[in-house]
Amino acid sequence: MKRNQFLRCASSSTHSLFLLSFFLLSSIPGSISSREVALGSIEIFNAHEWWPSIPIVYFSCKGENKTFLPDVKTTNFLYSFKGQESWQPLTELPEKKCKRCGIYESDTFKSDDVFDEWEMCSDDFVEGKSIHFKEMEFNATFICSDCGGGSGSQNSTIVEDKGEPSKKKTIAIVVVVSVLASILTVLAAVFVYKYWQRRRRERDQLRFLKLFEETDEIEDEIALGHVI
Ligand SMILES: *[C@@H]1O[C@H](CO)[C@@H](O)[C@H](O)[C@H]1NC(C)=O
Ligand SMILES: *[C@@H]1O[C@H](CO)[C@@H](O)[C@H](O)[C@H]1NC(C)=O
Ligand SMILES: *[C@@H]1O[C@H](CO)[C@@H](O)[C@H](O)[C@H]1NC(C)=O
Repeated sequence: MKRNQFLRCASSSTHSLFLLSFFLLSSIPGSISSREVALGSIEIFNAHEWWPSIPIVYFSCKGENKTFLPDVKTTNFLYSFKGQESWQPLTELPEKKCKRCGIYESDTFKSDDVFDEWEMCSDDFVEGKSIHFKEMEFNATFICSDCGGGSGSQNSTIVEDKGEPSKKKTIAIVVVVSVLASILTVLAAVFVYKYWQRRRRERDQLRFLKLFEETDEIEDEIALGHVI
């Protein structure tokens, strides 16, 4: 358990006696049932950037801090963890309620990319393990020794999420294409306008010249009439 986190929680509570016993108990390893969730392994299949770069991957549950996964630097590589790394555990689950958690990628220019977001529940864990797999995104195993019924009678709960792979990328492509299309449209409009302007100027010049010729002819006729 993160000591800081615990202290913060502690300060908000008024039951100091309860806290004292909690401290004493938690100092004896394994004496308290905690549904702490640690990351067992992760493999990411997709970095959401447009250009090659090291992905900055983090785990976070709604309303909680981000846990950055400093080791995860490349795609299609299985990272295994012992559960005791400095940034572990990821979170702690309540007994009856689920938490909405997700794996994300930090993005410097736009809002963070979502690998997936799902309900993490205590009874997802079978014999202390839960696998969350999302096609085209990642495959992660979570460890929580005190989660689940503990009986092991439940069927394996591999949560497969096949919902639209990287919808964001599709949206980004649509945006880029429409921007290009509008630039082309503007260029075409400018070209057509310039062309029309040139044609009009030429026509005006022609008309002007014609006018001159006509007046010349009239003057010539007048002059001729005078002579005769
Ligand atoms: C969340 O992060 C802040 C800033 O790093 C830290 O002060 C705080 O203790 C963290 N809270 C929890 C619940 O871990
Ligand atoms: C996900 O990872 C686990 C543990 O490494 C593995 O047993 C499982 O077969 C993997 N699933 C897929 C669909 O790759
Ligand atoms: C586990 O799955 C099998 C078939 O896949 C089913 O017959 C059985 O009832 C399931 N058990 C539980 C506890 O869900």
